[in-house]
Amino acid sequence: MDKLIIHGGKRLAGEVTVSGAKNAALPLLFATLLSPGPHRLGNLPRLRDITTAERLLAGLGAEVDSSNGILKVATEQINSMEAPYDLVRTMRASVLVLGPLLARYGKARVSLPGGCAIGARPINLHLKGLEAMGAEIHLENGYVEASAKRLEGARIHFDIPTVGGTENLLMAATLARGTTILENAAREPEIIDLAKALQGMGAFIKGAGTDTITIEGVDDLTPMDYQVMPDRIEAGTFLVAAAMTGGRVGVKGGCAEHMEALLSKLEEAGATVAATPETLWVEGPEEIQSVNIKTQPHPGFPTDMQAQFMAMMTLGNGTSMITEAVFENRFMHVSELQRMGADISIEGHTAAVNGVSALHGAPVMATDLRASACLVLAGLAADSTTEISRIYHLDRGYEKLEEKFRSLGADIERVPA
Ligand code: UD1
Repeated sequence: MDKLIIHGGKRLAGEVTVSGAKNAALPLLFATLLSPGPHRLGNLPRLRDITTAERLLAGLGAEVDSSNGILKVATEQINSMEAPYDLVRTMRASVLVLGPLLARYGKARVSLPGGCAIGARPINLHLKGLEAMGAEIHLENGYVEASAKRLEGARIHFDIPTVGGTENLLMAATLARGTTILENAAREPEIIDLAKALQGMGAFIKGAGTDTITIEGVDDLTPMDYQVMPDRIEAGTFLVAAAMTGGRVGVKGGCAEHMEALLSKLEEAGATVAATPETLWVEGPEEIQSVNIKTQPHPGFPTDMQAQFMAMMTLGNGTSMITEAVFENRFMHVSELQRMGADISIEGHTAAVNGVSALHGAPVMATDLRASACLVLAGLAADSTTEISRIYHLDRGYEKLEEKFRSLGADIERVPA
């Protein structure tokens, strides 16, 4: 297994371009099941999760062809309705085939995802919503077996805003008979991106990006031709890296509107942030101020940036209280940061991070995607050499991460084990 070796302590400087957003690309790929195509998707990041999604589509019978950064998908010949355990296990977002398959073919068999490193992560709200639309759902041998003649529009109130649940039901509702209203829907920018792509296919959707989304079902949709939005979490990761190394970095494709909570926390921590239409600039402070954060559904502080922000707070000038309110078990990076000299104690869902004057290099292990990014940032700021193992997690979600950091002056290399 590959490792990353980072000789820390370099100030990052320069400009870097963000890739297409993984979390927008995955639902878009599965939305191609809603019409025969041929579909075209541009600005797809080259990541392991995207390859997994392509494998899943191909397993259902889709033709998938990728060249010159454009992915072509044709779904005329779908002959399987099953998302198998092996794929769902490696990528939970595979459950997003449920809504589209059920809406277009009236049938789907999808493995239950089970737990993952950051918590239980059930899909009960996806299933409850589909049942409200008239689907029959049974759980058998670890699989969700779903069927419906034709889905019916319904008023669905989510108990908590769920990104995947909102996406699954949004896709399903585009081909349902009548009107669907999703209340307490998730408001993430990736949901707006999905709605735009679906509108381009002829769907009638209002309110995406607010907590109430209304969808008028249609009989058929046309092929998708769409460019994936830039990745706000990748952009945020570069901004925090720049700030915590006292550097100055421009992130091309970073969209300030998608990242308001993070940008205001970076400013509170002493960084200077400036936005042009194409580029978001950040300059790190002389001294990092400790600030408190609490993760929330969008537009609150994103849980997918909590670990990276904690890496920065380990070097703050006081105590930062970091509360994780979206997932129940998302502090696995803490024990690795402690091995690098961080002073952190956890009580329940809150980590108290007492700033230290320096982090020191150490061998550490990545446990999930964003925890891995946190360790890379800690390594970049540390005063000696960090060796990160199990970096396959990073390859699920960051395209050419070490190449991009090297272009900003970081001393980071990947070594095959
Ligand atoms: C998506 C993102 C992930 C991000 C998360 C929260 C993708 C591919 N993944 O994950 O990177 O960290 O949003 O911003 O876009 N829940 C239930 N029942 C359900 C569904 C969710 O209880 O049926 C709970 C979850 O356990 C969690 C909370 O709701 O505590 C939010 O989860 P959700 O928004 O659904 O996350 P994902 O869509 O899985």
